[in-house]
Amino acid sequence: MHCLLLIGLLSSAIGLRWMVSRHPYSGQKKGPMFGDFEAQRHWMEITVNMEPNEWYQNSTMNNLSYWGLDYPPLTAYHAYLCGLVSNMLNPSWCKLNESRGHESSEHKLFMRYTVTKKITTLMTLLFCPLLYLIDHGHFQYPL
Ligand SMILES: *[C@@H]1O[C@H](CO)[C@@H](O)[C@H](O)[C@H]1NC(C)=O
Ligand SMILES: *[C@@H]1O[C@H](CO)[C@@H](O)[C@H](O)[C@H]1NC(C)=O
Ligand SMILES: *[C@@H]1O[C@H](CO)[C@@H](O)[C@H](O)[C@H]1NC(C)=O
Repeated sequence: MHCLLLIGLLSSAIGLRWMVSRHPYSGQKKGPMFGDFEAQRHWMEITVNMEPNEWYQNSTMNNLSYWGLDYPPLTAYHAYLCGLVSNMLNPSWCKLNESRGHESSEHKLFMRYTVTKKITTLMTLLFCPLLYLIDHGHFQYPL
């Protein structure tokens, strides 16, 4: 029973994501700031190319007025991990100071994948303990 529940939740998460992805994302082709999508990409660019102690400091290479990192370090490290993968796949996706508003379709696909992965991971983390309780606490089948 819990497998069906999990599959249902995951496929609705992925389905929702898919429906959203068929429409332009917020900020697409809207310079100079673009949008949330660009903010996520920019954080990857900053964290991959700069030392952690420079992430929150305004400088010529890190203009904090342009999507400065304003989330706690955990988010920054998440951006860093995604950025490492992004950098491996295609360095132009997070080339510091040269990739603003980067909008190739491969990069879009990559960004969508990181978001979908996040939702899946979150769901798994949220629901596994719950499923465990249901399985082993409340509704134990007589053997
Ligand atoms: C950061 O520095 C730039 C100049 O390099 C400036 O234009 C911008 O307003 C500064 N932003 C903040 C948040 O201090
Ligand atoms: C920093 O970013 C802000 C917002 O995009 C922009 O208005 C400003 O001119 C930038 N400063 C520099 C030095 O690039
Ligand atoms: C960053 O890029 C802008 C425009 O592409 C350029 O004018 C500026 O000199 C660059 N800044 C640095 C520090 O390379």
